[in-house]
Amino acid sequence: MSAAFAEALPKAELHVHLEGTLEPDDLMRFAARNGVDLPWRTPDEVRAAYSYTDLGEFLQLYYMGCTVLASRTDFHELTTAYLHRAAAQGVRRAEMFVSPQSFMGRVPVADVLGGVLDAIADARTDLGVDGAVLVIAQRHRTEAEALELLDVIAPLRESLLGVGLGGAEVGNPPSKFARFFADARRRGYRLACHAGEEGPAEYVREALDAGVERIDHGYTAAADPALVRRLRDEGVPLTMCPLSNLRLRVVDTLDDYPVMRLHDEGVVVSVNSDDPPCFGGYVADNYTALGLSTAQLAALARSSFSASFAPAGDVAAGIVAVDAFVGSQPNVADAP
Ligand code: ADE
Ligand code: ZN
Repeated sequence: MSAAFAEALPKAELHVHLEGTLEPDDLMRFAARNGVDLPWRTPDEVRAAYSYTDLGEFLQLYYMGCTVLASRTDFHELTTAYLHRAAAQGVRRAEMFVSPQSFMGRVPVADVLGGVLDAIADARTDLGVDGAVLVIAQRHRTEAEALELLDVIAPLRESLLGVGLGGAEVGNPPSKFARFFADARRRGYRLACHAGEEGPAEYVREALDAGVERIDHGYTAAADPALVRRLRDEGVPLTMCPLSNLRLRVVDTLDDYPVMRLHDEGVVVSVNSDDPPCFGGYVADNYTALGLSTAQLAALARSSFSASFAPAGDVAAGIVAVDAFVGSQPNVADAP
């Protein structure tokens, strides 16, 4: 299967952290612009640091990256750069995570989210990409801080799609944030939650019990047949990130990565990039890395639209776009 097919295939990206899309050149440029000292002197030194033993080690680097972002303009540029790369990889809809807690006391939340939302509006016109934002609460912090975050972002409620939970998973289960999810639901947000990346399948259960509508990663659920049935029966999608799981040593190899098995068992699964430059690839690179047939990749692209929080008409249009693309390609059989 060619990388060109994966790149041209229309798709939705549902699991990407904007702060994690900082390319090494931009990281250095923002650092110089904002007078931030970093332990690296060149983009190549940054690239050399992209090697981790686990999620915790990665998060240290990720939070250091956040320190170079200091203004509304920075967030606008960051988002525009990601959306251009995503468009070149076939992304028609991007539901993006932003975590304002990393910037509190330093960059006003109106500038963080305002810069992102302005870039989304520009990209809708310039690139035809339909963008949306989910605000992430960091799970190593308290639930009280997560609840406070909901108050802080309240003025932008109508411009935001949803909320999620990210950061250091083990020891910070979804049940710790049950009131956060309940309050976010009451305010009308769509609910996502990182679970089952390094944490056990039980964390995925807790997220479902908290009313979460989409699970980010969910890798460890794949080994729990009862949970797989529950995900299928409740129609809760997983946003899986193969290159992230490989680089964070959740898996040793992608040879037996369970995405297609879960799909065949009736779970809605999509393929995503998480923090693309940090893990060696954008979304189409993640599709390509799976070594699947073109028909299987097309099935995953359809699921990416089904798993999105887009209005039903846009989901249907996304699936039609996949079908039209597949129909324009020679020798692509249908996969269920
Ligand atoms: N924040 C950015 N990337 C993340 C990941 N892979 N898991 C949890 N939180 C994150
Ligand atoms: Zn993530």
